[in-house]
Amino acid sequence: MHLQIAIDGPAASGKTTVARATARRLNALYLDTGAMYRALAYLALRTGTDVDNGAALARLLAASPIEVHLDREAPLGFRISAGGQELDEAALQSNEVTAIVSAVSAHAEVRSAMVRAQRRIAEGAPVVMAGRDIGSVVLPDAPVKIYLTASAEARIARRRAQLEESGVNVNARRLAAEIEERDRLDETRTVSPLAPAPDAHVIDSSDIDAAGVVDQICKLASSKLASRMSS
Ligand code: DC
Repeated sequence: MHLQIAIDGPAASGKTTVARATARRLNALYLDTGAMYRALAYLALRTGTDVDNGAALARLLAASPIEVHLDREAPLGFRISAGGQELDEAALQSNEVTAIVSAVSAHAEVRSAMVRAQRRIAEGAPVVMAGRDIGSVVLPDAPVKIYLTASAEARIARRRAQLEESGVNVNARRLAAEIEERDRLDETRTVSPLAPAPDAHVIDSSDIDAAGVVDQICKLASSKLASRMSS
């Protein structure tokens, strides 16, 4: 089996930055699975699909597949298209998409299709995958599972910087409320709620920069690999 590193955690905990840098350091591919749910939310907005109707969303996904190509050199670290249209960070991170993505991702029909696609992607090569359910559901046998947390203040500051960089308009108070509400929805949904896998290594990154977190993950990965080789 190829090396698999699962990085889960709440909104804006630094997962994507850390996962991408870890992949680069370990020469693995990188996928932010949140982008797949965001791509479906984008399609739902474009087609006027009811975000509370799981069957309609699953039909939309079947009719307009979300295609992912792992490509280290792409601006996001991978390429993603929905219904044949390539999506960039501004489209995926827009306020309109963010407002509905938790509702879109809560449906069992949507999750099972996404999980299938994500497992297929992980089969081909060593991968670092970021999301909410990677260690618990998508790649339960991943040798390295990280649950990345950070204080609310740190998460708000990071999301703000990320959004400003991608050209999305930011209102600080609305951002705090949006992150809190998304965490609440992601943690309380019935199907695969956000929670650390029992065997996940929890890292609080409030006071550690991304490079420090990447160091910790790479150390963990090499000790796991060493113990696998000696057993
Ligand atoms: O990581 P993000 O903020 O881009 O994720 C957007 C939403 O997608 C998040 O609110 C919950 C959902 N999601 C999920 O349910 N499972 C994943 N593996 C990744 C994201």
